[in-house]
Amino acid sequence: MKIGLFPGSFDPITNGHLDVIKRAAGLFNKLIISVAVNESKNALFTTDEKKFLISKACEYVNCGNIKVVSFQGLLVDAVREFNAGFVIRGLRAVADFEYEFQMALMNRELDHKCETIFMMPSPEYSFVSSSMIKEIARMGGDISPFVHSAVIEALKKKNFIKK
Ligand code: PNS
Repeated sequence: MKIGLFPGSFDPITNGHLDVIKRAAGLFNKLIISVAVNESKNALFTTDEKKFLISKACEYVNCGNIKVVSFQGLLVDAVREFNAGFVIRGLRAVADFEYEFQMALMNRELDHKCETIFMMPSPEYSFVSSSMIKEIARMGGDISPFVHSAVIEALKKKNFIKK
């Protein structure tokens, strides 16, 4: 059974994440989307809110093989805990590469069984990031092409978008 683990901050999930999720869910028997709990990162959404938004966004792509969880601490420990054979990371552009390359090699150093697979989202999402979504929303721009409607509702509740 091939299990992939897709970790991230998901603050909030974007259509770029969703694009990678769809692709990865087609490659693995089971895909575990794992929200990193990191109190020092000053996230807008709580871990439970992030998990809820991921589940909502995945509603129509989940054929029963996607599970949403959270993890605290090292990614390699989460990989072991969930019995995953692979870490999935999205690569949007060359700018992502250096950080991702370093992280993949460090994770393999920490656990030689930890393999990372990079997946490229569709080019229309190559410039989408959670932080940009929050900035555009805060400044009154239209984020509807880039996120699920549940994310827009959640941002409204946090007064990030004027109702
Ligand atoms: O969505 P992000 O913020 O790019 O995700 C980064 C994340 C959460 C995958 C990364 O920061 C991580 O793995 N954190 C867990 C702590 C850890 O294992 N650090 C060592 C990685 S080399």
